[in-house]
Amino acid sequence: MTLASEVDLQQFFSREHHRIHLVGVAGSGMSGIAALLLELGHDVSGSDKVGSLETDRLQRLGLRFHTQHRAEDAEEVEMVIFSSAIQEKNPIRVRAREVGAQLVRRAEALAAIMSGKRGIVIAGMHGKTTTSAMAAHVLREGGLHPSHYVGAEIPLLGSNAHWDSRGQYFVAEGDESDGTLRFFKPEHTLILNIEEEHLDYYADLAAIESVFSQLLDQTSGSFFYCADDPHAVRICGARARSISFGFAPEADYCGTDIDLQDFASVFCVSCRGEKLGEARLNVPGHHNVSNSLGVIALAMELGIPFAKIVASLRRFEHARRRFEIKYESDRFLLVDDYAHHPTEIRATLATAKSAGRNRVLTMFQPHRYSRTKALRREFGCAFDDADRVVVTDIYPASEAPLPNISGQTIVDEMIAHGHRGVTYQPRLELVHCDLGNMIASGDLILSLGAGNIHEQLSILAADLVIAERLKRIVGEEGNVLLYEPLAKHTTLRVGGPAQFWVEPRNEAAFADLIRYCRRENLPLFVIGRGSNLLVRDGGIRGVVVHPCGGEFDRVDVSGNEITAGVGAKLKQVAYAGKAAGLGGLEWMEGIPGAVGGGLRMNAGAMGAQTFENVVRIRYLDGEGNASMKTPAELEINYRHVPSLERNFAVSAVFSGTPSTPEEITRRLNESQEKRRTTQPSAKSAGCIFKNPKSGPAGKLVDELGLKNSRVGNARVSEVHGNFIINEGGATAAEVLELIDRIKRVARTERGIDLETEVEIVGEEA
Ligand code: EPU
Repeated sequence: MTLASEVDLQQFFSREHHRIHLVGVAGSGMSGIAALLLELGHDVSGSDKVGSLETDRLQRLGLRFHTQHRAEDAEEVEMVIFSSAIQEKNPIRVRAREVGAQLVRRAEALAAIMSGKRGIVIAGMHGKTTTSAMAAHVLREGGLHPSHYVGAEIPLLGSNAHWDSRGQYFVAEGDESDGTLRFFKPEHTLILNIEEEHLDYYADLAAIESVFSQLLDQTSGSFFYCADDPHAVRICGARARSISFGFAPEADYCGTDIDLQDFASVFCVSCRGEKLGEARLNVPGHHNVSNSLGVIALAMELGIPFAKIVASLRRFEHARRRFEIKYESDRFLLVDDYAHHPTEIRATLATAKSAGRNRVLTMFQPHRYSRTKALRREFGCAFDDADRVVVTDIYPASEAPLPNISGQTIVDEMIAHGHRGVTYQPRLELVHCDLGNMIASGDLILSLGAGNIHEQLSILAADLVIAERLKRIVGEEGNVLLYEPLAKHTTLRVGGPAQFWVEPRNEAAFADLIRYCRRENLPLFVIGRGSNLLVRDGGIRGVVVHPCGGEFDRVDVSGNEITAGVGAKLKQVAYAGKAAGLGGLEWMEGIPGAVGGGLRMNAGAMGAQTFENVVRIRYLDGEGNASMKTPAELEINYRHVPSLERNFAVSAVFSGTPSTPEEITRRLNESQEKRRTTQPSAKSAGCIFKNPKSGPAGKLVDELGLKNSRVGNARVSEVHGNFIINEGGATAAEVLELIDRIKRVARTERGIDLETEVEIVGEEA
């Protein structure tokens, strides 16, 4: 690599307009360099595997962007700048070497750009993005027109980097992760904290401290350091020109009387024993008070009046992904934070806890295999302030996996440490489901990590907006759950989650749900007791309505008629008949489903079927309007009622025949006995197939010798060939494969096309 001298580089960037290419330009650090170079008037191109919002913005400023690293991009330019994530064999790096273009590291370029101004470097393991943004903001409001470079998008500053030709100062976040701090030669340095981190790069703490010491040696003006951090004190404390800040009474700039409120802090500041006054910071957390004391010290030493500093701090808002509120209502608070080191996690969780909600639920994506391995113990103790934690797998950040290191490593450490609310979900795309299904009114939900876990929180936030609307529709008495596992609501005990599980308690709420789904274009599916239902493992998208409780569970007898809501069990109708001396309904005793399901599929047993006993049904149509119909007005087939696929039954009136108690009891017993002796008691969805014209499907399966055949934990019952039973932990995919196998054999051996009676719904996993 051609290592340019610092003076050359500084002149290169400041004197003329040059053609420069950036490899890995979409990254938060590289995009900042691109912005600075464009503002300095250079002709800038860049490449990255993926574009981002930042590359979109830069393209508007003049960046020529490619989503491929093409060797030819090195041919037309004088300089190639690359991020530390870009490997030596990258085609642009290779060609740049061949054609003799200058190759420069990101931090080297930044240091050179910065050397055109009076540099201020903010360094430390945690909080440097927030602190550098805060410093740039306070200097800007103090009229100093600083340029800045910060490692994240800062809405308040307009961008992550900006060159302001009017000002003298340049505030930069210094990145210690790859040793590039040593490139900086600033006027002032502010050190927040030093800790064991990035052990993929550094051998030990001493190696880390030596890089910080070198930065201090290269600093011409003052050293600001946190007096509460022992490592920072060790390397800065003894130096002349050092200025300390923090909570320690000996700190030059000292914070006292700290009042931590929900999302803000109020504290008193004194300088070398003299009280300056009160400050308010509108970002939460004790650690941020400490960071702001560093900024106050810096700004005071640069001559900005305290009153002005305090006014600016009040207006300071967070960088993205630093305790960023994604959704807030009376019932829920969703927050995203970039914390990925145990110390940061502890600080963020302490802040979350102090927000005063009922519980703190956390989703965490570990970042880097090397960090997970090195700090596994510390991670194990970092989550004490979280009531529930879902840990997903490691975000590799360009690292190759390490043997036996995964998200499970941290889960194991947490369990060993005594945490009782932690689970592992290796599939990132399911994390929002796991967490969303746990939430209850009053919870604060936090996503933590430096990778892409925040996307899971965003999905949850978007669904929560709809869930809250659904909750308002069903009212206090109704129930709404997110991502409810349908395996809990089907007798076969298989099936993935319902995106929105909604239990209305009355017809008016049900009608409103139908109208809302229609308006919002949300799919709507109604589920009763799930006794004849096979839900695929990916679950059901949209609203799954379960009418139960309230009006829907009522069973009233009047004369020879029994009116039952769709949530009532068919069995209850049979027993209500018995109590009123009404017979002819005894067969319903043998059906595990509810009235709604019985109507929808015209369920039957003992040679009878539902609609033979129905006098009227009441249903809601696709627009939520109610109608009453007699069976004569409907098309009714064996196990199939077409109009109830488009409309939603809410109640039915059944008619019974006056009978003696003895007769009813005899028939109930007969039904029970038949079920007990001919049907399995294990978990099933009832009969899987409709009986074909040629005879009972169960008998056919039996004759084909398929009883007891299995796929995984799904097995054909040996008691009845038309039942598939779940032996425990079966998946829908297994059941479906077994169904296909039976169909195939019936077709090839007997020429019979079996048709499923169970309703098969949902998406594949
Ligand atoms: N059979 C066999 N081997 C078997 C199963 C059945 O030889 O493995 C023979 C039986 O011995 C009997 C005939 O097949 O001679 C019919 O069996 P069953 O009386 O059990 O009736 P089915 O037609 O299989 C129907 C309903 C059931 C209902 C029963 C009891 C259908 C598809 N099934 O079963 O309904 O419980 O009658 O009345 O119509 C359901 O719909 O989910 C359901 C379970």
